[in-house]
Amino acid sequence: MPEAADVASAYAGARVVITGGLGFIGSTLALRLAELGADLLLVDNLFPEAGGTLFNVAPIRERVAIEIADIRDVRAMRQLLRGCRYLFNLAAQTSHMDSMADPETDLAINCRAQLTLLEACREICPEAPIVYASTRQIYGRPRRLPVDEGHPLRPVDVNGVNKMAGEAYHILFHDVYGLHAAALRLTNTYGPRMRIRDARQTFVGVWLRAVLEGRAFEVWNGAQLRDFTYVDDAVEAFLLAAIAPAATGRAFNIGGEHLRLRALAQALIAANGGGSFETRDFPAERKRIDIGDYYADDSAFRAATGWAPKIPIATGLARSLDYFRRNLAEYR
Ligand SMILES: NC(=O)c1ccc[n+]([C@@H]2O[C@H](COP(=O)([O-])OP(=O)(O)OC[C@H]3O[C@@H](n4cnc5c(N)ncnc54)[C@H](O)[C@@H]3O)[C@@H](O)[C@H]2O)c1
Repeated sequence: MPEAADVASAYAGARVVITGGLGFIGSTLALRLAELGADLLLVDNLFPEAGGTLFNVAPIRERVAIEIADIRDVRAMRQLLRGCRYLFNLAAQTSHMDSMADPETDLAINCRAQLTLLEACREICPEAPIVYASTRQIYGRPRRLPVDEGHPLRPVDVNGVNKMAGEAYHILFHDVYGLHAAALRLTNTYGPRMRIRDARQTFVGVWLRAVLEGRAFEVWNGAQLRDFTYVDDAVEAFLLAAIAPAATGRAFNIGGEHLRLRALAQALIAANGGGSFETRDFPAERKRIDIGDYYADDSAFRAATGWAPKIPIATGLARSLDYFRRNLAEYR
């Protein structure tokens, strides 16, 4: 089981490549790895509908290499992977609604580019541990709660199907070619640097923005159960997944505190010291791809790595509000 000292010594001075490194989770991972002394290369194409921005990495901008490149560009990726000691693979089209409106783009980024990237890894950095950002969306509508990794996979949208394939390629390349790949099935991840401009990166973003702007936000239904991971806890999971021998070749759930959306809305208002929300029915086009209640059983990852989430919802929401209060103009 890795200790804190193992995390520090693994990454100090190591060349770490993060795809999607200017996005919400990728940039938070980059900030933490910079603290640990890693030699960072962030690869991101600033996909317009995604959450990436250079502002996310402003505190470390001078200390990291940033390449505005597309993971669909095989030649560029082959160059960029040279010398890579660890690869955190987070670049993705993340919107469920956009994947239905434009399924081909989702296929190209979340499926085909993943295969191409792994082929490049095989050739250029076959020893590098790879951690892939998968998603709980691949389960579809849960048949039982909590959802463990043995739950059937039946995605409800194109994004879920392509992310499922992306994950499967990572595990396949471990099984067949011995790449040190692992996958984390993330649930709703929230925190500073998330996209608050619209609901593409979970509804929590638009809720945060609305309370900060003094507007009421909408809660659809409100009785759904969901779990939430504060981004620093998700980042710690990535760092551990790459170095824990027991994680290699496996796909794990990452969870957090679970509660009903109505309770989350109340917690947000309490953390902000004010605000209001309205409850309404699900819009029809969203209802079709909604997964209902979900929360993860993440005991397998805890057992393999010693990971446990540390940040309670109230603290995570307070930190998020504090960050966006100071930086709102950059994210509108
Ligand atoms: N945030 C969540 O709640 C959540 C939940 C489940 C899974 N995930 C997964 O975690 C990963 C990171 O998500 P995030 O929330 O930080 O989203 P994000 O949109 O903030 O980050 C994704 C980044 O990938 C970049 N990107 C997109 N297509 C690219 C391409 N073709 N080439 C290079 N870069 C590209 C975007 O510009 C963006 O900066 C994704 O793989 C996502 O599927 C996130």
